[in-house]
Amino acid sequence: MSSENRIRVLPPQVHLKIAAGEVVERPASVVKELVENALDAGADRIDVLVEEGGRQLIEVMDNGCGMTRDDARLALERHATSKIATEDDLFALKTFGFRGEALPSIASVSRFLLETRTRSSHEAVCITREDGDQFQVAAAGAPVGTRVRVRDLFYNIPARRKFLKSTNTERGAILDCLNRFSLVHPQCGFTLVHNQKTVFQRPAGSDIRHRLLEVLGRETGASLLPVSGGGSAAGTLSGFVSPPVLHRSNRRSIYLFVNNRMVKDQVMTSAVLKAYQGLMEKGRYPVCVLFLTVDPARVDMNVHPAKEEVKFAESGQVFSLIRQSILEALSGYPAGENAGIAAEDPFAAFIPPAPAAGDRAVFSPGLEDPPVRQPGLLPDWQPSPAVVPVDSGPVREKTERYGSEKGFFSSLQIVGQVWKSYLILCHEETLYLLDQHAAHERILYEQLQQRMNSRNASQELLLPITMDLSPDELAAVQEHGDILAQLGFSLAPFGTNAIILTGVPILAGDYDPREFFHEVIADLLHSRSQAGKNLPLLNELAAGMACRLAVKASDALSREEIELLLMQLDQVDVGQTCPHGRPLYFTMSRYEMEKKFQRR
Ligand SMILES: Nc1ncnc2c1ncn2[C@@H]1O[C@H](COP(=O)(O)OP(=O)(O)OP(=O)(O)O)[C@@H](O)[C@H]1O
Ligand SMILES: [Mg+2]
Repeated sequence: MSSENRIRVLPPQVHLKIAAGEVVERPASVVKELVENALDAGADRIDVLVEEGGRQLIEVMDNGCGMTRDDARLALERHATSKIATEDDLFALKTFGFRGEALPSIASVSRFLLETRTRSSHEAVCITREDGDQFQVAAAGAPVGTRVRVRDLFYNIPARRKFLKSTNTERGAILDCLNRFSLVHPQCGFTLVHNQKTVFQRPAGSDIRHRLLEVLGRETGASLLPVSGGGSAAGTLSGFVSPPVLHRSNRRSIYLFVNNRMVKDQVMTSAVLKAYQGLMEKGRYPVCVLFLTVDPARVDMNVHPAKEEVKFAESGQVFSLIRQSILEALSGYPAGENAGIAAEDPFAAFIPPAPAAGDRAVFSPGLEDPPVRQPGLLPDWQPSPAVVPVDSGPVREKTERYGSEKGFFSSLQIVGQVWKSYLILCHEETLYLLDQHAAHERILYEQLQQRMNSRNASQELLLPITMDLSPDELAAVQEHGDILAQLGFSLAPFGTNAIILTGVPILAGDYDPREFFHEVIADLLHSRSQAGKNLPLLNELAAGMACRLAVKASDALSREEIELLLMQLDQVDVGQTCPHGRPLYFTMSRYEMEKKFQRR
Protein backbone atom coordinates (compact mmCIF):
# COMPACT_ATOMS: atom_id res chain seq x y z
CA MET A 1 0.00 0.00 0.00
CA SER A 2 1.46 3.34 -0.95
CA SER A 3 2.19 5.68 1.96
CA GLU A 4 0.07 8.31 0.21
CA ASN A 5 -3.12 6.27 0.64
CA ARG A 6 -5.28 7.74 3.34
CA ILE A 7 -8.50 5.81 3.26
CA ARG A 8 -9.01 2.74 5.44
CA VAL A 9 -11.92 0.56 6.45
CA LEU A 10 -12.75 1.20 10.09
CA PRO A 11 -12.54 -1.69 12.55
CA PRO A 12 -15.96 -3.15 13.47
CA GLN A 13 -16.00 -1.78 17.03
CA VAL A 14 -15.56 1.75 15.66
CA HIS A 15 -18.32 1.63 13.05
CA LEU A 16 -20.58 -0.06 15.55
CA LYS A 17 -20.10 2.90 17.88
CA ILE A 18 -20.79 5.31 15.04
CA ALA A 19 -23.99 3.44 14.17
CA ALA A 20 -24.95 3.36 17.84
CA GLY A 21 -24.61 7.14 17.92
CA GLU A 22 -27.48 7.36 15.47
CA VAL A 23 -29.79 4.94 17.23
CA VAL A 24 -28.96 5.84 20.81
CA GLU A 25 -28.91 9.53 21.46
CA ARG A 26 -29.85 9.54 25.13
CA PRO A 27 -31.35 7.26 27.81
CA ALA A 28 -34.87 7.82 26.49
CA SER A 29 -33.84 6.37 23.11
CA VAL A 30 -32.69 3.18 24.86
CA VAL A 31 -36.03 2.98 26.64
CA LYS A 32 -37.83 3.54 23.36
CA GLU A 33 -35.98 0.76 21.53
CA LEU A 34 -36.36 -1.73 24.36
CA VAL A 35 -40.07 -1.03 24.83
CA GLU A 36 -40.62 -1.34 21.08
CA ASN A 37 -38.93 -4.76 21.18
CA ALA A 38 -41.10 -5.79 24.10
CA LEU A 39 -44.27 -4.71 22.29
CA ASP A 40 -43.15 -6.50 19.12
CA ALA A 41 -42.68 -9.59 21.30
CA GLY A 42 -46.35 -9.39 22.27
CA ALA A 43 -45.82 -8.29 25.87
CA ASP A 44 -48.79 -6.94 27.79
CA ARG A 45 -46.75 -5.96 30.77
CA ILE A 46 -43.61 -3.84 30.63
CA ASP A 47 -41.72 -2.65 33.69
CA VAL A 48 -39.08 0.03 33.36
CA LEU A 49 -36.56 0.71 36.08
CA VAL A 50 -34.30 3.73 35.85
CA GLU A 51 -31.59 5.23 38.02
CA GLU A 52 -30.33 8.82 37.70
CA GLY A 53 -32.31 9.66 34.60
CA GLY A 54 -30.99 6.51 32.93
CA ARG A 55 -27.28 7.37 33.03
CA GLN A 56 -26.65 4.80 35.72
CA LEU A 57 -29.23 2.15 34.91
CA ILE A 58 -32.06 1.38 32.53
CA GLU A 59 -33.80 -1.94 32.88
CA VAL A 60 -36.76 -3.05 30.79
CA MET A 61 -38.62 -6.25 31.66
CA ASP A 62 -41.39 -7.76 29.56
CA ASN A 63 -43.61 -10.81 29.54
CA GLY A 64 -43.41 -11.26 25.78
CA CYS A 65 -42.45 -14.34 23.79
CA GLY A 66 -38.78 -14.32 24.80
CA MET A 67 -35.96 -15.73 22.66
CA THR A 68 -34.30 -19.08 22.31
CA ARG A 69 -30.62 -19.34 23.20
CA ASP A 70 -29.58 -19.19 19.53
CA ASP A 71 -31.86 -16.27 18.71
CA ALA A 72 -30.64 -14.35 21.73
CA ARG A 73 -27.04 -14.67 20.55
CA LEU A 74 -28.01 -13.68 17.04
CA ALA A 75 -30.07 -10.72 18.24
CA LEU A 76 -26.84 -9.04 19.33
CA GLU A 77 -25.36 -9.14 15.85
CA ARG A 78 -25.96 -6.20 13.55
CA HIS A 79 -28.70 -6.52 10.94
CA ALA A 80 -30.10 -9.60 12.65
CA THR A 81 -33.87 -9.36 12.86
CA SER A 82 -36.87 -11.63 13.00
CA LYS A 83 -39.15 -8.88 11.75
CA ILE A 84 -38.46 -8.54 8.05
CA ALA A 85 -36.93 -10.83 5.46
CA THR A 86 -37.05 -8.97 2.15
CA GLU A 87 -36.91 -5.41 0.87
CA ASP A 88 -40.64 -5.49 0.11
CA ASP A 89 -41.34 -6.13 3.78
CA LEU A 90 -40.06 -2.63 4.49
CA PHE A 91 -43.22 -1.23 2.91
CA ALA A 92 -45.61 -3.50 4.77
CA LEU A 93 -44.28 -3.05 8.28
CA LYS A 94 -46.39 -4.35 11.12
CA THR A 95 -43.67 -4.23 13.77
CA PHE A 96 -41.79 -1.35 15.38
CA GLY A 97 -38.40 -2.88 14.66
CA PHE A 98 -37.06 -3.77 11.26
CA ARG A 99 -33.38 -2.81 11.17
CA GLY A 100 -31.82 -5.32 13.53
CA GLU A 101 -29.76 -2.44 14.93
CA ALA A 102 -31.09 -1.60 18.35
CA LEU A 103 -29.70 -4.32 20.61
CA PRO A 104 -26.18 -4.43 19.13
CA SER A 105 -26.04 -0.63 19.21
CA ILE A 106 -27.12 -0.40 22.82
CA ALA A 107 -24.80 -3.24 23.84
CA SER A 108 -21.84 -1.48 22.23
CA VAL A 109 -22.19 1.67 24.32
CA SER A 110 -23.08 0.27 27.74
CA ARG A 111 -22.49 -2.48 30.28
CA PHE A 112 -25.11 -4.83 28.99
CA LEU A 113 -27.19 -7.80 30.13
CA LEU A 114 -29.89 -9.68 28.23
CA GLU A 115 -31.87 -12.39 29.99
CA THR A 116 -34.61 -14.16 28.09
CA ARG A 117 -36.75 -17.28 28.14
CA THR A 118 -39.38 -18.69 25.80
CA ARG A 119 -42.48 -20.51 26.98
CA SER A 120 -41.23 -23.88 25.78
CA SER A 121 -37.88 -23.60 27.50
CA HIS A 122 -37.46 -24.32 31.19
CA GLU A 123 -34.43 -22.18 31.66
CA ALA A 124 -33.45 -18.72 30.55
CA VAL A 125 -30.30 -17.64 28.79
CA CYS A 126 -28.30 -14.74 30.13
CA ILE A 127 -25.88 -12.86 27.91
CA THR A 128 -23.66 -10.19 29.41
CA ARG A 129 -20.92 -7.88 28.29
CA GLU A 130 -18.86 -5.65 30.56
CA ASP A 131 -16.18 -3.23 29.38
CA GLY A 132 -16.30 -4.16 25.71
CA ASP A 133 -15.21 -7.80 26.17
CA GLN A 134 -16.74 -10.74 24.38
CA PHE A 135 -20.33 -11.59 25.23
CA GLN A 136 -20.61 -14.18 28.03
CA VAL A 137 -23.43 -16.68 27.65
CA ALA A 138 -24.82 -18.62 30.60
CA ALA A 139 -27.96 -20.41 31.69
CA ALA A 140 -30.15 -18.66 34.25
CA GLY A 141 -33.42 -18.95 36.06
CA ALA A 142 -35.98 -16.33 34.96
CA PRO A 143 -39.66 -16.05 34.05
CA VAL A 144 -40.87 -16.22 30.44
CA GLY A 145 -40.10 -12.98 28.70
CA THR A 146 -37.08 -10.73 28.37
CA ARG A 147 -35.12 -8.46 30.63
CA VAL A 148 -32.52 -6.07 29.27
CA ARG A 149 -30.30 -4.18 31.67
CA VAL A 150 -28.22 -1.27 30.45
CA ARG A 151 -25.73 0.23 32.91
CA ASP A 152 -23.43 3.24 32.52
CA LEU A 153 -24.66 4.36 29.12
CA PHE A 154 -21.83 5.83 26.99
CA TYR A 155 -19.24 4.82 29.59
CA ASN A 156 -16.89 4.15 26.64
CA ILE A 157 -17.72 7.38 24.77
CA PRO A 158 -16.96 10.10 27.32
CA ALA A 159 -17.79 12.89 24.87
CA ARG A 160 -21.30 11.49 24.48
CA ARG A 161 -21.76 10.95 28.19
CA LYS A 162 -20.76 14.52 28.87
CA PHE A 163 -23.58 15.74 26.67
CA LEU A 164 -26.29 13.99 28.64
CA LYS A 165 -28.61 16.52 30.24
CA SER A 166 -29.55 16.79 33.90
CA THR A 167 -31.14 13.82 35.64
CA ASN A 168 -34.36 15.77 35.65
CA THR A 169 -34.34 16.38 31.91
CA GLU A 170 -33.38 12.81 31.00
CA ARG A 171 -35.98 11.48 33.39
CA GLY A 172 -38.54 13.80 31.78
CA ALA A 173 -37.67 12.48 28.32
CA ILE A 174 -38.08 8.86 29.50
CA LEU A 175 -41.40 9.71 31.08
CA ASP A 176 -42.56 11.42 27.92
CA CYS A 177 -41.58 8.39 25.87
CA LEU A 178 -43.44 5.99 28.17
CA ASN A 179 -46.46 8.29 28.22
CA ARG A 180 -46.62 8.02 24.46
CA PHE A 181 -46.40 4.22 24.52
CA SER A 182 -49.05 4.14 27.24
CA LEU A 183 -51.42 6.18 25.09
CA VAL A 184 -51.03 4.07 21.99
CA HIS A 185 -51.05 0.73 23.85
CA PRO A 186 -53.69 0.99 26.56
CA GLN A 187 -54.00 -2.79 26.57
CA CYS A 188 -50.43 -3.06 27.89
CA GLY A 189 -49.53 -2.44 31.53
CA PHE A 190 -46.61 -0.09 32.16
CA THR A 191 -44.65 0.68 35.29
CA LEU A 192 -41.91 3.24 35.74
CA VAL A 193 -39.66 3.30 38.77
CA HIS A 194 -37.07 6.08 39.05
CA ASN A 195 -34.44 6.06 41.78
CA GLN A 196 -36.43 3.42 43.60
CA LYS A 197 -39.60 5.48 43.62
CA THR A 198 -42.62 4.39 41.61
CA VAL A 199 -43.47 7.15 39.17
CA PHE A 200 -46.55 5.39 37.80
CA GLN A 201 -48.21 2.03 37.56
CA ARG A 202 -50.67 1.63 34.73
CA PRO A 203 -52.56 -1.65 34.70
CA ALA A 204 -52.93 -3.83 31.60
CA GLY A 205 -56.24 -4.14 29.78
CA SER A 206 -57.12 -0.46 29.95
CA ASP A 207 -58.96 1.50 27.24
CA ILE A 208 -57.90 4.75 25.63
CA ARG A 209 -60.30 6.94 27.61
CA HIS A 210 -58.97 5.60 30.87
CA ARG A 211 -55.38 5.89 29.67
CA LEU A 212 -55.93 9.53 28.79
CA LEU A 213 -56.88 10.19 32.40
CA GLU A 214 -53.86 8.26 33.66
CA VAL A 215 -51.37 9.98 31.38
CA LEU A 216 -52.70 13.54 31.16
CA GLY A 217 -54.35 13.78 34.56
CA ARG A 218 -58.07 13.45 35.23
CA GLU A 219 -58.95 17.07 34.60
CA THR A 220 -57.25 17.40 31.22
CA GLY A 221 -58.02 13.85 30.10
CA ALA A 222 -61.70 14.19 30.81
CA SER A 223 -62.11 17.47 28.93
CA LEU A 224 -60.73 16.22 25.61
CA LEU A 225 -63.10 15.93 22.68
CA PRO A 226 -63.13 12.88 20.42
CA VAL A 227 -61.99 13.41 16.85
CA SER A 228 -62.35 11.09 13.89
CA GLY A 229 -62.24 11.27 10.15
CA GLY A 230 -60.95 9.64 7.04
CA GLY A 231 -61.59 7.03 4.51
CA SER A 232 -59.46 8.79 1.90
CA ALA A 233 -56.03 7.83 0.58
CA ALA A 234 -54.64 9.80 3.50
CA GLY A 235 -55.89 7.12 5.86
CA THR A 236 -58.12 7.31 8.91
CA LEU A 237 -57.78 9.49 11.93
CA SER A 238 -58.96 8.98 15.48
CA GLY A 239 -58.04 10.56 18.76
CA PHE A 240 -58.78 13.39 21.12
CA VAL A 241 -58.25 17.14 21.07
CA SER A 242 -58.63 19.88 23.63
CA PRO A 243 -61.40 22.46 23.47
CA PRO A 244 -59.94 25.93 22.76
CA VAL A 245 -60.08 26.94 26.42
CA LEU A 246 -57.61 24.20 27.33
CA HIS A 247 -54.12 25.07 26.18
CA ARG A 248 -50.47 24.78 27.07
CA SER A 249 -47.45 27.02 26.68
CA ASN A 250 -45.60 24.55 24.44
CA ARG A 251 -46.22 21.82 21.87
CA ARG A 252 -45.24 18.95 24.11
CA SER A 253 -48.82 17.89 24.65
CA ILE A 254 -49.39 17.27 20.96
CA TYR A 255 -49.01 13.50 20.76
CA LEU A 256 -48.88 12.14 17.22
CA PHE A 257 -48.93 8.53 16.10
CA VAL A 258 -48.80 7.00 12.65
CA ASN A 259 -49.72 3.34 12.45
CA ASN A 260 -49.26 3.14 16.22
CA ARG A 261 -45.76 4.54 16.00
CA MET A 262 -44.95 7.77 17.85
CA VAL A 263 -43.71 10.38 15.43
CA LYS A 264 -42.70 14.00 15.21
CA ASP A 265 -44.12 15.26 12.00
CA GLN A 266 -44.17 18.73 10.57
CA VAL A 267 -47.16 18.13 8.31
CA MET A 268 -49.31 16.74 11.09
CA THR A 269 -48.24 19.41 13.59
CA SER A 270 -48.96 22.27 11.24
CA ALA A 271 -52.38 20.79 10.44
CA VAL A 272 -53.17 20.77 14.16
CA LEU A 273 -51.99 24.36 14.64
CA LYS A 274 -53.87 25.51 11.59
CA ALA A 275 -57.08 23.98 12.93
CA TYR A 276 -56.72 26.01 16.13
CA GLN A 277 -55.73 29.20 14.36
CA GLY A 278 -57.89 32.02 15.59
CA LEU A 279 -59.20 29.94 18.47
CA MET A 280 -56.21 30.31 20.76
CA GLU A 281 -53.92 33.15 21.68
CA LYS A 282 -50.56 33.20 19.94
CA GLY A 283 -47.98 31.11 21.78
CA ARG A 284 -50.59 28.75 23.21
CA TYR A 285 -50.88 25.16 22.03
CA PRO A 286 -53.61 22.54 22.26
CA VAL A 287 -53.48 19.14 23.89
CA CYS A 288 -53.96 16.50 21.17
CA VAL A 289 -53.62 12.75 20.96
CA LEU A 290 -53.97 11.74 17.32
CA PHE A 291 -53.76 8.29 15.81
CA LEU A 292 -53.40 8.20 12.05
CA THR A 293 -53.71 4.88 10.29
CA VAL A 294 -52.22 4.86 6.81
CA ASP A 295 -51.68 2.11 4.30
CA PRO A 296 -48.07 1.08 5.08
CA ALA A 297 -47.28 1.37 1.39
CA ARG A 298 -48.22 5.10 1.50
CA VAL A 299 -45.82 6.03 4.26
CA ASP A 300 -42.08 5.57 4.55
CA MET A 301 -41.00 4.78 8.11
CA ASN A 302 -37.37 4.41 7.18
CA VAL A 303 -36.36 8.07 6.88
CA HIS A 304 -34.92 8.73 10.33
CA PRO A 305 -32.23 6.83 12.28
CA ALA A 306 -34.38 6.66 15.39
CA LYS A 307 -37.56 5.99 13.36
CA GLU A 308 -39.09 9.20 14.73
CA GLU A 309 -39.99 10.80 11.44
CA VAL A 310 -42.07 9.54 8.56
CA LYS A 311 -42.65 10.55 4.98
CA PHE A 312 -46.15 10.50 3.57
CA ALA A 313 -46.87 9.79 -0.07
CA GLU A 314 -49.86 12.18 0.13
CA SER A 315 -48.84 14.76 2.69
CA GLY A 316 -51.37 17.33 1.40
CA GLN A 317 -54.23 14.93 2.03
CA VAL A 318 -52.90 14.06 5.47
CA PHE A 319 -52.83 17.77 6.29
CA SER A 320 -56.43 18.29 5.15
CA LEU A 321 -57.68 15.18 6.91
CA ILE A 322 -56.24 16.30 10.25
CA ARG A 323 -57.24 19.92 9.98
CA GLN A 324 -60.76 19.12 8.81
CA SER A 325 -61.37 16.45 11.43
CA ILE A 326 -60.25 18.74 14.24
CA LEU A 327 -62.36 21.61 12.95
CA GLU A 328 -65.37 19.31 12.98
CA ALA A 329 -64.60 18.18 16.53
CA LEU A 330 -64.32 21.80 17.63
CA SER A 331 -67.35 23.12 15.83
CA GLY A 332 -69.66 24.78 18.29
CA TYR A 333 -66.87 25.39 20.79
CA PRO A 334 -66.23 29.04 21.52
CA ALA A 335 -62.74 30.39 21.18
CA GLY A 336 -60.63 30.65 24.32
CA GLU A 337 -59.97 33.93 26.09
CA ASN A 338 -58.12 36.52 23.98
CA ALA A 339 -58.20 34.18 21.04
CA GLY A 340 -57.96 35.54 17.59
CA ILE A 341 -56.12 38.67 18.66
CA ALA A 342 -52.77 37.33 17.70
CA ALA A 343 -53.58 34.09 15.98
CA GLU A 344 -50.73 32.63 13.99
CA ASP A 345 -51.24 33.52 10.40
CA PRO A 346 -48.36 32.94 8.06
CA PHE A 347 -49.63 35.69 5.78
CA ALA A 348 -50.23 38.24 8.50
CA ALA A 349 -46.81 39.73 7.99
CA PHE A 350 -47.62 40.63 4.38
CA ILE A 351 -50.86 42.43 5.08
CA PRO A 352 -50.39 45.97 6.36
CA PRO A 353 -52.29 46.16 9.64
CA ALA A 354 -55.10 48.67 9.95
CA PRO A 355 -54.00 51.44 12.26
CA ALA A 356 -55.28 50.75 15.76
CA ALA A 357 -55.20 52.86 18.88
CA GLY A 358 -52.52 50.68 20.41
CA ASP A 359 -50.34 50.93 17.33
CA ARG A 360 -49.66 54.61 17.69
CA ALA A 361 -45.99 55.24 17.60
CA VAL A 362 -46.44 58.23 19.84
CA PHE A 363 -48.99 59.36 22.36
CA SER A 364 -51.60 61.53 20.80
CA PRO A 365 -53.92 63.77 22.71
CA GLY A 366 -57.44 62.80 23.59
CA LEU A 367 -57.14 59.09 22.87
CA GLU A 368 -57.36 56.52 25.60
CA ASP A 369 -55.07 53.55 25.41
CA PRO A 370 -56.71 50.14 25.33
CA PRO A 371 -56.67 48.29 28.64
CA VAL A 372 -53.72 45.95 28.94
CA ARG A 373 -53.14 43.04 31.26
CA GLN A 374 -50.58 44.06 33.84
CA PRO A 375 -49.95 41.24 36.22
CA GLY A 376 -46.67 42.44 37.60
CA LEU A 377 -46.87 46.21 37.57
CA LEU A 378 -47.67 48.02 40.79
CA PRO A 379 -50.76 46.67 42.54
CA ASP A 380 -52.52 50.03 42.53
CA TRP A 381 -52.15 50.38 38.79
CA GLN A 382 -55.10 52.08 37.13
CA PRO A 383 -55.84 52.33 33.43
CA SER A 384 -54.45 55.48 31.94
CA PRO A 385 -56.82 58.40 32.51
CA ALA A 386 -55.40 60.40 29.70
CA VAL A 387 -52.48 60.53 27.37
CA VAL A 388 -50.02 63.23 26.77
CA PRO A 389 -49.07 64.62 23.39
CA VAL A 390 -45.63 63.78 22.24
CA ASP A 391 -44.59 67.35 22.05
CA SER A 392 -45.74 68.16 25.55
CA GLY A 393 -42.20 68.98 26.52
CA PRO A 394 -40.39 67.45 29.44
CA VAL A 395 -41.71 64.62 31.52
CA ARG A 396 -44.97 65.18 33.30
CA GLU A 397 -44.85 65.88 36.99
CA LYS A 398 -45.20 62.34 38.13
CA THR A 399 -42.81 62.38 40.99
CA GLU A 400 -45.30 63.82 43.45
CA ARG A 401 -47.33 60.68 43.14
CA TYR A 402 -44.55 58.22 43.60
CA GLY A 403 -42.14 60.05 45.87
CA SER A 404 -39.86 62.93 45.25
CA GLU A 405 -36.64 61.09 44.34
CA LYS A 406 -36.38 60.69 40.60
CA GLY A 407 -34.20 57.80 39.56
CA PHE A 408 -32.31 57.59 36.33
CA PHE A 409 -34.97 55.84 34.29
CA SER A 410 -37.85 57.88 35.72
CA SER A 411 -36.18 61.10 34.72
CA LEU A 412 -36.00 60.13 31.06
CA GLN A 413 -38.34 61.91 28.72
CA ILE A 414 -40.94 59.52 27.32
CA VAL A 415 -41.13 59.99 23.58
CA GLY A 416 -43.39 57.04 22.85
CA GLN A 417 -43.85 53.38 22.14
CA VAL A 418 -43.31 51.75 18.78
CA TRP A 419 -44.62 48.44 17.44
CA LYS A 420 -46.12 47.80 20.88
CA SER A 421 -42.70 46.56 21.83
CA TYR A 422 -40.11 49.27 22.33
CA LEU A 423 -40.07 52.45 24.33
CA ILE A 424 -38.35 55.50 22.98
CA LEU A 425 -36.89 57.64 25.73
CA CYS A 426 -34.63 60.62 25.69
CA HIS A 427 -32.21 62.31 28.04
CA GLU A 428 -30.42 65.45 26.96
CA GLU A 429 -28.25 64.40 24.03
CA THR A 430 -29.02 60.67 24.20
CA LEU A 431 -31.85 58.58 22.84
CA TYR A 432 -32.72 55.33 24.67
CA LEU A 433 -34.49 52.43 22.98
CA LEU A 434 -35.82 50.11 25.64
CA ASP A 435 -37.25 46.61 25.11
CA GLN A 436 -40.39 46.70 27.27
CA HIS A 437 -40.66 42.94 27.69
CA ALA A 438 -37.01 42.47 28.58
CA ALA A 439 -37.15 45.38 31.03
CA HIS A 440 -40.27 44.21 32.77
CA GLU A 441 -38.94 40.67 32.89
CA ARG A 442 -35.81 41.93 34.62
CA ILE A 443 -37.88 43.87 37.14
CA LEU A 444 -40.05 40.89 37.99
CA TYR A 445 -37.04 38.60 38.23
CA GLU A 446 -35.31 40.94 40.67
CA GLN A 447 -38.50 41.43 42.68
CA LEU A 448 -38.93 37.69 42.88
CA GLN A 449 -35.33 37.21 44.00
CA GLN A 450 -35.80 39.85 46.71
CA ARG A 451 -38.96 38.20 47.90
CA MET A 452 -37.41 34.76 47.86
CA ASN A 453 -34.46 36.04 49.89
CA SER A 454 -36.80 37.46 52.49
CA ARG A 455 -38.99 34.32 52.30
CA ASN A 456 -41.93 36.42 51.35
CA ALA A 457 -42.75 35.18 47.86
CA SER A 458 -46.18 33.69 48.45
CA GLN A 459 -49.71 35.04 48.51
CA GLU A 460 -52.53 33.00 49.91
CA LEU A 461 -55.37 32.11 47.56
CA LEU A 462 -58.79 33.20 48.74
CA LEU A 463 -60.15 29.77 47.90
CA PRO A 464 -57.75 26.83 47.80
CA ILE A 465 -57.76 24.97 44.50
CA THR A 466 -57.57 21.21 44.10
CA MET A 467 -55.78 20.11 40.98
CA ASP A 468 -55.46 16.72 39.34
CA LEU A 469 -51.92 16.24 38.18
CA SER A 470 -50.52 13.86 35.63
CA PRO A 471 -48.03 11.34 37.06
CA ASP A 472 -45.03 13.22 35.75
CA GLU A 473 -46.28 16.48 37.25
CA LEU A 474 -46.93 14.73 40.53
CA ALA A 475 -43.45 13.24 40.53
CA ALA A 476 -41.92 16.66 39.83
CA VAL A 477 -43.90 18.18 42.70
CA GLN A 478 -42.70 15.45 45.04
CA GLU A 479 -39.11 15.77 43.95
CA HIS A 480 -38.92 19.56 43.96
CA GLY A 481 -41.34 20.56 46.70
CA ASP A 482 -38.67 22.76 48.29
CA ILE A 483 -38.03 24.74 45.11
CA LEU A 484 -41.73 25.28 44.50
CA ALA A 485 -42.11 26.51 48.08
CA GLN A 486 -39.24 28.99 47.62
CA LEU A 487 -40.90 30.32 44.48
CA GLY A 488 -44.08 30.95 46.49
CA PHE A 489 -46.31 27.93 45.86
CA SER A 490 -48.02 26.49 48.94
CA LEU A 491 -49.43 23.07 48.34
CA ALA A 492 -50.22 19.76 49.97
CA PRO A 493 -50.97 16.30 48.61
CA PHE A 494 -54.64 15.54 48.15
CA GLY A 495 -55.53 11.91 47.52
CA THR A 496 -53.30 9.90 45.20
CA ASN A 497 -53.30 12.01 42.05
CA ALA A 498 -54.09 15.51 43.20
CA ILE A 499 -52.75 18.40 45.20
CA ILE A 500 -54.42 21.25 46.97
CA LEU A 501 -52.95 24.63 46.11
CA THR A 502 -53.31 27.22 48.85
CA GLY A 503 -50.80 29.85 47.81
CA VAL A 504 -49.11 31.08 44.63
CA PRO A 505 -46.18 33.43 43.98
CA ILE A 506 -47.22 36.94 44.91
CA LEU A 507 -46.00 38.25 41.58
CA ALA A 508 -48.45 36.05 39.71
CA GLY A 509 -51.07 38.74 40.33
CA ASP A 510 -54.20 37.96 38.37
CA TYR A 511 -52.66 35.21 36.25
CA ASP A 512 -54.83 32.10 36.42
CA PRO A 513 -53.24 30.13 39.31
CA ARG A 514 -54.06 26.75 37.80
CA GLU A 515 -52.51 27.58 34.47
CA PHE A 516 -49.54 29.24 36.10
CA PHE A 517 -48.82 26.20 38.22
CA HIS A 518 -49.02 23.83 35.24
CA GLU A 519 -46.63 26.04 33.30
CA VAL A 520 -44.05 26.24 36.07
CA ILE A 521 -44.21 22.47 36.45
CA ALA A 522 -43.74 22.08 32.71
CA ASP A 523 -40.60 24.24 32.99
CA LEU A 524 -39.44 22.10 35.89
CA LEU A 525 -39.92 18.90 33.94
CA HIS A 526 -37.95 20.17 31.01
CA SER A 527 -35.31 22.10 32.85
CA ARG A 528 -31.83 21.87 31.48
CA SER A 529 -30.17 22.74 34.76
CA GLN A 530 -27.58 20.36 36.10
CA ALA A 531 -28.64 17.39 38.14
CA GLY A 532 -28.70 17.99 41.87
CA LYS A 533 -27.97 21.70 41.53
CA ASN A 534 -30.89 23.46 43.10
CA LEU A 535 -29.74 27.03 42.69
CA PRO A 536 -29.50 27.11 38.88
CA LEU A 537 -32.82 25.32 38.72
CA LEU A 538 -34.42 27.84 41.05
CA ASN A 539 -33.04 30.74 39.03
CA GLU A 540 -34.11 29.17 35.77
CA LEU A 541 -37.65 28.74 37.03
CA ALA A 542 -37.70 32.27 38.41
CA ALA A 543 -36.58 33.59 35.02
CA GLY A 544 -39.29 31.54 33.32
CA MET A 545 -41.90 32.95 35.67
CA ALA A 546 -40.72 36.50 35.11
CA CYS A 547 -40.85 36.00 31.37
CA ARG A 548 -44.38 34.66 31.55
CA LEU A 549 -45.66 37.47 33.74
CA ALA A 550 -43.94 40.35 32.01
CA VAL A 551 -45.69 42.62 29.55
CA LYS A 552 -45.40 41.12 26.14
CA ALA A 553 -43.68 42.45 23.08
CA SER A 554 -47.15 43.01 21.66
CA ASP A 555 -48.79 44.87 24.55
CA ALA A 556 -49.75 48.47 24.03
CA LEU A 557 -48.70 50.45 27.11
CA SER A 558 -50.30 53.63 28.29
CA ARG A 559 -48.11 56.51 29.29
CA GLU A 560 -48.86 55.84 32.92
CA GLU A 561 -47.78 52.25 32.58
CA ILE A 562 -44.55 53.32 30.97
CA GLU A 563 -43.93 55.69 33.87
CA LEU A 564 -44.49 52.85 36.31
CA LEU A 565 -42.19 50.59 34.38
CA LEU A 566 -39.42 53.19 34.45
CA MET A 567 -39.93 53.81 38.13
CA GLN A 568 -39.74 50.12 38.87
CA LEU A 569 -36.57 49.89 36.82
CA ASP A 570 -35.09 52.45 39.20
CA GLN A 571 -36.13 50.42 42.19
CA VAL A 572 -34.35 47.20 41.31
CA ASP A 573 -30.75 46.50 40.59
CA VAL A 574 -31.45 45.91 36.94
CA GLY A 575 -28.17 45.47 35.18
CA GLN A 576 -28.01 45.68 31.42
CA THR A 577 -29.74 42.50 30.41
CA CYS A 578 -32.93 40.52 30.95
CA PRO A 579 -32.67 37.27 32.98
CA HIS A 580 -32.11 35.41 29.71
CA GLY A 581 -29.16 37.62 28.88
CA ARG A 582 -30.70 39.79 26.16
CA PRO A 583 -29.98 43.52 26.36
CA LEU A 584 -32.62 45.77 27.94
CA TYR A 585 -31.83 48.85 25.97
CA PHE A 586 -29.39 50.55 23.70
CA THR A 587 -28.60 54.17 23.15
CA MET A 588 -27.92 56.52 20.31
CA SER A 589 -26.33 59.88 20.87
CA ARG A 590 -27.31 63.04 19.09
CA TYR A 591 -23.83 63.10 17.63
CA GLU A 592 -24.31 59.61 16.12
CA MET A 593 -27.64 60.57 14.71
CA GLU A 594 -26.32 63.76 13.20
CA LYS A 595 -23.50 61.80 11.64
CA LYS A 596 -26.02 59.44 10.08
CA PHE A 597 -27.87 62.39 8.63
CA GLN A 598 -24.54 63.77 7.45
CA ARG A 599 -24.96 66.92 9.43
CA ARG A 600 -21.47 66.45 10.82
N1 LIG B 1 -37.85 -8.09 24.25
C1 LIG B 1 -37.72 -8.99 23.26
N2 LIG B 1 -38.46 -10.13 23.24
C2 LIG B 1 -38.34 -11.03 22.24
N3 LIG B 1 -37.49 -10.88 21.21
C3 LIG B 1 -36.72 -9.79 21.17
C4 LIG B 1 -36.78 -8.79 22.18
N4 LIG B 1 -35.90 -7.83 21.89
C5 LIG B 1 -35.32 -8.19 20.73
N5 LIG B 1 -35.79 -9.37 20.28
C6 LIG B 1 -35.38 -10.09 19.06
O1 LIG B 1 -34.11 -9.62 18.72
C7 LIG B 1 -34.09 -9.10 17.39
C8 LIG B 1 -33.15 -7.91 17.31
O2 LIG B 1 -33.68 -6.82 18.06
P1 LIG B 1 -33.30 -5.35 17.66
O3 LIG B 1 -34.07 -4.41 18.45
O4 LIG B 1 -31.82 -5.25 17.68
O5 LIG B 1 -33.73 -5.27 16.14
P2 LIG B 1 -35.20 -5.15 15.53
O6 LIG B 1 -36.18 -4.91 16.60
O7 LIG B 1 -35.41 -6.34 14.67
O8 LIG B 1 -35.02 -3.87 14.61
P3 LIG B 1 -34.73 -2.36 15.10
O9 LIG B 1 -33.27 -2.16 15.07
O10 LIG B 1 -35.43 -1.54 14.07
O11 LIG B 1 -35.27 -2.23 16.47
C9 LIG B 1 -35.52 -8.77 17.09
O12 LIG B 1 -35.79 -8.85 15.69
C10 LIG B 1 -36.29 -9.83 17.88
O13 LIG B 1 -36.42 -10.99 17.15
MG1 LIG C 1 -35.93 -3.38 17.95
